[in-house]
Amino acid sequence: MPAGRFYITTPIYYVNDKPHIGHAYTTIAADTLARWREARGEDVLFLTGTDENSQKTVEAAKKSGEEIHRYTDRLAELWQSTWVKLGISNTDFIRTTEERHIATVKDFWGRLEAAGDLYKDRYEGLYCKGHEAFIKEDELVNGLCPEHKTKPELVSEENYFFRLSKYQAQLLDFYATHEDFVAPANRFNEVKSFVERGLEDVSFSRELKPDAEPWGIPVPKDPGQAIYVWADALVNYISAVGIEGWEEHPADIHAVGKDILRFHAVIWPAMLMSAGLPLPGQVIANGFITANGVKMSKSLGNGVDPLDLAARYGVDATRYFLLREIPYGEDGDFSEEKMKERYNADLANGLGNFAARVSTLAEKEMLKNSEMDVDFKKTIADMDRAVREKLGAFKFNEALAAIWSAISFGDRYVNEKKVWEIKNPGERSRALFNLVSLLESVAATLASFMPETSKKITAAIERNGDEIKVKKIEALFPRIS
Ligand code: MSP
Repeated sequence: MPAGRFYITTPIYYVNDKPHIGHAYTTIAADTLARWREARGEDVLFLTGTDENSQKTVEAAKKSGEEIHRYTDRLAELWQSTWVKLGISNTDFIRTTEERHIATVKDFWGRLEAAGDLYKDRYEGLYCKGHEAFIKEDELVNGLCPEHKTKPELVSEENYFFRLSKYQAQLLDFYATHEDFVAPANRFNEVKSFVERGLEDVSFSRELKPDAEPWGIPVPKDPGQAIYVWADALVNYISAVGIEGWEEHPADIHAVGKDILRFHAVIWPAMLMSAGLPLPGQVIANGFITANGVKMSKSLGNGVDPLDLAARYGVDATRYFLLREIPYGEDGDFSEEKMKERYNADLANGLGNFAARVSTLAEKEMLKNSEMDVDFKKTIADMDRAVREKLGAFKFNEALAAIWSAISFGDRYVNEKKVWEIKNPGERSRALFNLVSLLESVAATLASFMPETSKKITAAIERNGDEIKVKKIEALFPRIS
C-alpha cells in the first residue's frame, strides 16, 4: 500500500431498524477525521457498513413480513443512502452477507483454530439479544437488561469457546506500550482495569436450532453451529482490505461507541494476536446521545431520525450540532431547543451573518491580493494550529470553538473599524482583503466538519491571478423561530 495511507472505520450497524442520530454521531465523527486526513494529502480508506448475520435480523425480517434477503437488501440500501444524504465520504461499504466477508471470516476462524484457541464446551448463561452477548445475573435490574429493558433468555448449549483468558498478560503488555491505544484516556483506564480483573473465555458460536431459520456464517466443518455474530462482525475490518492488505496496513482508527469498546479494545486485539495479525492503531469511543437522559436506541424507540433533522436544519447544521454540543467521549442530551439555540446563535448569527456581511461589503470592490495585517495572520495561524491539535486529540467541540473564535475576531474588526464607513479606497480594500482572506481560511478549515457550507463560501470567492472577486453569500443559515 502507498505511503501516507490512512484507514479509518465505523462500527457496522445492525439492520434491525433505520439509523438514529446516535449512529449518525459515530459516523459523522469518523467522517470528519477521514476528510481531515484527506485534506492533508493522505490516501484515505474509510469503511462503514452493515452487520446482518445477527438473530435480530431474522426477527426484524419476520416482523416486517419480508423474505430475509429482500429485507436485508432494503435495509442495507437504507443505511447506505442515509450516509450519502448526510455527506459521509466513506470509500467502501461492507455487508456481512457479502462473499468477500464470509470467506475472510472462515479463513480467520481457521487461524484461531490452528492457534489452538478454540474449543467446544457446554455453556449455560443469560443471553441478551439487544447486546448480542451473554449478560451476568448480577448485571440485571429487576430481572431485565438495564440497557435494553428486556428479559434475557436462558441458554444452555454446546458452543465453541475462544481462549480469551490466555491473552490477559499479552493485552496488558500491549496497553502498557501503546498509551494512545484507546481514547479518550479515561475510557482506556476502564479497559485496563477490566482486563486486570481477569478475563473469561468467550463463547464464539451459537447452536443452530433445527427448527430455526438458518442464518449466520456456519462454523467450518461443523455446520450445526453458526459463528457468533461478534466473532463474525469484527472481522469486517479485515474483509474490506483482505488479510494481506491488513498485514501491510491495519486500521489506524476504529471509531466506536462506548457500548462496544470492550469488543474492540479487548476481544478484537486478542483475536488478532491469536491469528498472528497486526493490531489496529487506535480505538476511539464516543459517549451516548441521550433523550431526556435515556440512551437513544432502537429498542427503546426514542430515536431521532438524522434525515428529519437534516431536512429541517440542513445537513451541515446537524453535523455541526452533534460535534459542537457534545464533548467527544462524554454523553450528551439531544433536545430540539438546544439544537435551535445553537443553530440561531452559532450558525445564523455567527458564521452565516459573518459570511453575508463580509461578502456584501466586498462584492462591489475589486480586491487585489496583498499582505494581510499581522493580527489577521496570527488569528488564522492560531486557528489552524488549534484545530490540528484538537482534532489530533479528538476534541471536535474545541476544534470548532477555535474556528468560531476566528469568526468573532472578524466580526469585532468589522464593528470596531466600521468597515462600511471607510471612504479611503486603499484603506477600504485593505480591510476587505483582510476579512475576505479570513473568511476563506475559515471555510477551508471548516471543510472537514461542514463540507457543503465550506463549498458554498469558497465558491463565492473567486481568485484570478492577483484579483479577487467576491459574490454575495446569502443566508447560509436562515433564522429558525
Ligand atoms: N453491530 C454492532 C457493531 C459491530 S462493529 C464490528 C452494533 N451495532 S449498533 O447498530 O447497535 O450500534 C453501533 C454503534 O452505533 C454503537 O457502538 C455506537 O457507536 C452507535 N450508537 C448507537 N446508539 C448510540 C447513541 N444513543 N449514542 C451514541 N452512539 C450510539 O453495536
